[in-house]
Amino acid sequence: MVNSSMFVLCLYMDNAIKNIFKQVSFNTFIPFFYPMMMMPLRSWRKKAINMCSFKPDDRVLIPGVGSGYDITCLPSDVVVDGVDISEVMLGIARAKQNINGNAQNVRLNIMDAERLEFPADTFDKAILGLFLTCVYDPQKAFAEVVRVVKPGGEILIYDHLFRTNKWTGQLMSYMDVVMKYNFCSVIRAFDDVVKGQPVVVVKEISGDPFGFIRGFLLRKADSPKVKRSWWSFFHL
Ligand SMILES: C[S@@+](CC[C@H](N)C(=O)[O-])C[C@H]1O[C@@H](n2cnc3c(N)ncnc32)[C@H](O)[C@@H]1O
Repeated sequence: MVNSSMFVLCLYMDNAIKNIFKQVSFNTFIPFFYPMMMMPLRSWRKKAINMCSFKPDDRVLIPGVGSGYDITCLPSDVVVDGVDISEVMLGIARAKQNINGNAQNVRLNIMDAERLEFPADTFDKAILGLFLTCVYDPQKAFAEVVRVVKPGGEILIYDHLFRTNKWTGQLMSYMDVVMKYNFCSVIRAFDDVVKGQPVVVVKEISGDPFGFIRGFLLRKADSPKVKRSWWSFFHL
């Protein structure tokens, strides 16, 4: 009894604090060093995002949009909704949008991507740039993305999602205890995150010169067509 109450309490505490440290980090020191890490990746990120087949007026979702690096890789005639839990990262993204002059096509909002406030089947594309390693519950966040993308829509994942070997894996699992709360997890695997979701991998490319990051283009399955026999019309 005591054990199960402790378990429920831990689960509750874990959920209650899940975003607090991340919000503190992404609202204070991370925005300062983040550009240094991201600038060298720009051409690789763009190549990965270019695997999507964009059409004018496509609606594009960017969960964990951060300071807007993914937006700068998109064509200017798509309509973007970016969401994030960090005011500071979103503030930087908004400033970039105002400077680039395409703010009217881009909406940026504070929102927990594990609970997206959009109806099902809303978006033509979703761009998940370095987000699934960062969000607290990647399976839940990915399921939310799949829900709001239209059947046949494209989902681009640009991230570090690999199993590591036994020795580095052990070291990384120690680091992960702290890192998963305040920055990003270093032990997540692509297969675990997308497992059970109605998506297929269409293309895959390297996302940096060292093979640390990869780009995956996925397509959400079309809705299953309901087959109706001629006599079923009598039962309407
Ligand atoms: C590593 S940054 C990536 C930002 C951007 N996509 C890029 O590639 O540069 C991860 C972002 O995810 C945001 N984030 C983490 N958990 C989130 C959540 N539950 N909902 C929305 N955003 C989240 C963080 O605030 C941060 O801005």
